Amino acid sequence: LEERRKVISDSIRVVPHFPKEGIMFQDITTLLLNPIAFQYSIEDFVEQYRDQQVEVVAGFEARGFIFGPPIALALHCPFVPLRKPGKLPGETVSAEYQLEYGSDKIEMSVGAVKKGQRVLLIDDLIATGGTLAAGVKLMKQVGGEVIGAGCVIELPELNGRENLKGTPLYIQVEKEGV
Ligand code: PRP
Ligand code: MG
Repeated sequence: LEERRKVISDSIRVVPHFPKEGIMFQDITTLLLNPIAFQYSIEDFVEQYRDQQVEVVAGFEARGFIFGPPIALALHCPFVPLRKPGKLPGETVSAEYQLEYGSDKIEMSVGAVKKGQRVLLIDDLIATGGTLAAGVKLMKQVGGEVIGAGCVIELPELNGRENLKGTPLYIQVEKEGV
């Protein structure tokens, strides 16, 4: 298990000062270039959630769209995309979250998650936790029950967990972000 985490961790490239000065960007595209690391990551999530009666896997645009679908397939669940505003056709439900400057929104198609369904949220990384907290808010609006949130990477210095009170967070590797 520890070996698996090491392979995952070592496959993530760190790009200093991207997208701006002072940020240590955690680049998962190098993890994707390593099929063993990518498989370990997906397998690890599947083992973590296999016995938790997950009914829907929801992933955040854009990088949550990479990890969410293979997990959904392995758990025999539908995958629901949580999109940036204005991308989804038809009726949508949305939740707002704060950024350093201003705010952003995520949207989901009405009817994608039904009342009482057990939802697993998946993203590549938790920083401030704003994105995942918006996901929790969105699911609450439609009556979905968030049973957990899974991310490949956590930046613990940013205390994103504080925004997720009551939602169990599962992380594969911890990294420094700033
Ligand atoms: C990044 C990352 C997470 C989010 C984490 O997404 O992929 O989704 O930030 O930050 P938070 O915990 O502070 O909310 P971003 O929207 O920057 O880009 P993406 O479209 O490439 O996923
Ligand atoms: Mg993202």
